[in-house]
Amino acid sequence: MKDKLIIFDTTLRDGEQSPGASMTREEKVRIAKALERLKVDVIEAGFPAASPGDFEAVQAVAKVIKDSVVCGLARALDKDIDRAGEALKGANQSRIHTFIATSPIHMQMKLQMQPEQVIEYAVRAVKRARQYTDNVEFSPEDAGRSEEDFLCRILEAVIDAGATTLNIPDTVGYSVPDQFGATIANLIRRIPNSDKAIFSVHCHNDLGLAVANSLSAVMNGARQVECTINGLGERAGNASLEEVVMAVRTRKDVFTCQTGIDTREILTCSKLVSSITGFPVQPNKAIVGANAFAHEAGIHQDGVLKNRETYEIMRAEDVGWTANRMVLGKHSGRNAFKSRITELGFEFGSESELNEAFARFKQLADKKHEIFDEDLQTLISEAGFEAEDEHIKLIALKVCSETGEIPNATVTLRVDNKEVTGTASGGGAVDASLKAIEKLVQTDATLELYSVNSITNGTDAQGEVTIRLEKAGRIVNGLGADTDIVIASAKAYINAVNKLHSPDQRRHPQKGDV
Ligand code: KIV
Ligand code: ZN
Repeated sequence: MKDKLIIFDTTLRDGEQSPGASMTREEKVRIAKALERLKVDVIEAGFPAASPGDFEAVQAVAKVIKDSVVCGLARALDKDIDRAGEALKGANQSRIHTFIATSPIHMQMKLQMQPEQVIEYAVRAVKRARQYTDNVEFSPEDAGRSEEDFLCRILEAVIDAGATTLNIPDTVGYSVPDQFGATIANLIRRIPNSDKAIFSVHCHNDLGLAVANSLSAVMNGARQVECTINGLGERAGNASLEEVVMAVRTRKDVFTCQTGIDTREILTCSKLVSSITGFPVQPNKAIVGANAFAHEAGIHQDGVLKNRETYEIMRAEDVGWTANRMVLGKHSGRNAFKSRITELGFEFGSESELNEAFARFKQLADKKHEIFDEDLQTLISEAGFEAEDEHIKLIALKVCSETGEIPNATVTLRVDNKEVTGTASGGGAVDASLKAIEKLVQTDATLELYSVNSITNGTDAQGEVTIRLEKAGRIVNGLGADTDIVIASAKAYINAVNKLHSPDQRRHPQKGDV
């Protein structure tokens, strides 16, 4: 029997700390459900003391997730631990993750505390967390630049205080694989009570080494890896879940442990996180990039056709890539639609939600004969996005785009039940349309991101547009999909504007927040 490698996903906490990746409570719940289907062991849902929005998001995730442990982050402060304990009250299985910095530079400059004091805070925090749950994780922040002797002392003390998982974070992505692996082996060997806790790692990707460092730690005894979908996270991101999981699975010959992840759910999670956060996945990204399994060179194609293992070390279908399967079409009925959506893991809250989604499906099927799973996923995502306080609605859009002429767009919107029409010209059809909308809604927001992705293959594919707007420090992502990318762009812009107008559910990080 191989050891279990615990997969701790922090997309909803550390991933969200990526500037612009802020998610609403509903979005977090949707991602948490996808992570549960992926069979992630622990879902770090947020940092409850950071803001009321973060507290409510952790609470909401704790309420719906049954199979995975739901975790809340807390500084080593009573008020943070109490907030985390409170947010996790409804969870089937909960964990409190508390941390304090242990590197000389962090202790002196940031905390302005003596090492002895830091140990006192850590021990006190773990004991307090144990009053809420017997599943307590402790992290010495910036462990990658901490002194090993000090790490041994503080970790021994927190195990005695009741910590069950010791997470070693390379907070600033400074470590290199051999050295980081050796640190993990040394800690396990030197700490007298190390057998009473699970060693975990949490690596940042500043030098592009987060996955390599995590795997080196696993080879040296770590049995939990903290990671995020698509490697989302602060600065250069965190270790990517899909890469860690597939490395351990593909190289069974070198790893003495295995994960419980259902790898066929990887791609769905990747697409969901990408569309919600507006962070596209680069085409050559391992496992989930559009080209990850594409064999372009003739010599490769020839080899793969003769025997796929000549060039393929993994099977695309094992991580959720299926040849775009036509699942539904124009003549599919409501029951077929409902059952396919249910198979994809979505649930309708009410009959009217189902009816509305089915009406959208019919509209799409009129424009596109073959409806793939990816189309259905986008349709549901879009519905979820729009559900949020839609006080501006697109009624009509007419665009004139002709060689040698300046493109022009006329837009009609319903704004708070009143129809308004505006016209603008621009550098292209999309530019003219967004300018016409902006003329009518006058947000004065800054456009931070405009991206278009094709959801499936073919020129009749839906284009999925993400638009990120920033206004007075608040950042929102809007999503729109349509077989016409000008309309998709208009929908995405309106969606973002509606979000700017909706009550501020902000959590860190937003521009100007500490
Ligand atoms: O990078 C880090 O140190 C963290 C800790 C809170 C674990 O995210
Ligand atoms: Zn981190």
